[in-house]
Amino acid sequence: MKEATVQLPRQMSTLAAEVDLTYYYIFWLSVVLFVAIIGTSVVFLIKYRASKNPQATPPGHHDILELFWTFAPIILLIPMFHYGFKGYVKAMVAPAGSIEVRVKGKQWAWDFYYPGQSEPVPGELVVPIGQPMKMVMSSEDVLHSFFIPEFRVKRDLVPGMYTSLWFEATEITSTLGADGKLSGEPLDLFCTEYCGLSHSLMLATVHIVSVEDYKRYIEGLDRVPNIAPELWGKQLYEKNGCNACHSVDGTALVGPTFKGAFGRLEHFEDGTSVNIDENYIRESILRPQAKIVKGYTNATMPPFVLNDAKLDAVIAYIKSLK
Ligand code: CUA
Repeated sequence: MKEATVQLPRQMSTLAAEVDLTYYYIFWLSVVLFVAIIGTSVVFLIKYRASKNPQATPPGHHDILELFWTFAPIILLIPMFHYGFKGYVKAMVAPAGSIEVRVKGKQWAWDFYYPGQSEPVPGELVVPIGQPMKMVMSSEDVLHSFFIPEFRVKRDLVPGMYTSLWFEATEITSTLGADGKLSGEPLDLFCTEYCGLSHSLMLATVHIVSVEDYKRYIEGLDRVPNIAPELWGKQLYEKNGCNACHSVDGTALVGPTFKGAFGRLEHFEDGTSVNIDENYIRESILRPQAKIVKGYTNATMPPFVLNDAKLDAVIAYIKSLK
């Protein structure tokens, strides 16, 4: 049991222990039944093989035995249903008073909208300890799936509808410094539904912080960080998942590279062309389908919601990539 336990990630939500209990019950019951059934079959295969028993006798009835192997499995299955159903109901219904966070999945990034915030925080989910959090999720394009292994929660994001899940974290992973920076060992949030080329890069970090740090974090969301604009632009480039499609070293990925992009003469599918400038970058972020670069018709970039300060920072970063 000990060896098997270490294979599962740490239990870091109030749901985790129950999920694991049900999982191990099903797992070990399967092991026992597999060994018993296959083992008996093998023993009988050898013992009653045709060469030793040329005169096969027709099978008879044994009422007690038949009743036993009908009802014994039922008794074993009832707890499986009981714990499975109880756990499912608990995981599906968020407790009253949960903090609601809107989650948007898109190829290939995560956006989080905190209560009272009109602008998303990309690639970073901050949750307070000991407080139920409800994720209300939707997709902008294809199927994605929200998965935090340590919380034992996973649910699909489906285009055209909302799905939700909830969790309550039980351990702090990160602290918020006086400078507004998060440090610690955050958890990983994965997309677990194959959603196209850069599916494996569709990641986000999950910071579990104290209730006080969470409050300070939410208050600080609107503030512009006190760093060079191109450095902030680089952070936004990584957090928004731009790196999944746009390289900064000249490599052609799903989208055109950002290396040396500023000032470059770009040709579009409709035959027009433009020297890349601030307005073109701004338009391409807010309305990516307005101009399609020649040869990139297969890429369907979703719109990104960035305010002017952030747009400026991203433009500064692209300018710096000579
Ligand atoms: Cu989104 Cu895989």
